[in-house]
Amino acid sequence: MKTCFSASLMCADWLNMGRDLRILNQSCQMLHVDIMDGHFCKSLYLSPAFIASIRNATDLPIEAHLMVEHPEDFIEETARAGADYISVHAETIERQAFRLIDTIHALGCMAGVVLSPATPFSAVEPYLNRLDLVTVMTVDAGFAGQAFLPEMLPKIRQVSQWKRRSGQNYLVQADGAVNKNTYRALFQSGVDSYVLGSSGLFGLSGDLPAACEQMKAEFAAATREEG
Ligand code: DX5
Ligand code: ZN
Repeated sequence: MKTCFSASLMCADWLNMGRDLRILNQSCQMLHVDIMDGHFCKSLYLSPAFIASIRNATDLPIEAHLMVEHPEDFIEETARAGADYISVHAETIERQAFRLIDTIHALGCMAGVVLSPATPFSAVEPYLNRLDLVTVMTVDAGFAGQAFLPEMLPKIRQVSQWKRRSGQNYLVQADGAVNKNTYRALFQSGVDSYVLGSSGLFGLSGDLPAACEQMKAEFAAATREEG
């Protein structure tokens, strides 16, 4: 599967979003929009309205990462806003997982599920075959700038091995502290899609075009075969 770089727009320069989207359109394969309700995690960020406002400024697929306690209240609005992928947290859908995955598909979107660090692989196994995107959080949800959790690597391997063995086609994604220090381990564990936030993209030195070039060079160096 081709590598996907997904820019986490909560870490972007909101004052210059239009300009920055023109740059990201060239260097990334997906846009990642973190929607938080202040309850699921103690933080507030983007919204379906934000997705609607950027929809016409990009042809890249937009993923909505719903960090909300009641995703069923926001799925339809998020789909109408123009999201291509809607990702919900495994911890929030347990008793209605199949219904909500079906709802996302019925709205014409691709369905993703996200595992918080303390959520085991087994929580999503019953419905993995229905998913288009599986995200393993490599930090606790809700905040940029946290330290990478290496304990998540075996879980990423479980998600990617299950995909290989079953012949499924979902994207395996990592979110949180994805940067030059972690690319190699994530790549070797089977990640296809890399959510780039402050440490991997927007916090790199120089302007955004330079940061995109640096990010791509760092990824290439970290994942190059040796010998
Ligand atoms: C949460 C966000 C952030 C983002 C932050 O879902 O998408 O975790 O990755 O970037 P870092 O972790 O590099 O500060
Ligand atoms: Zn996210």
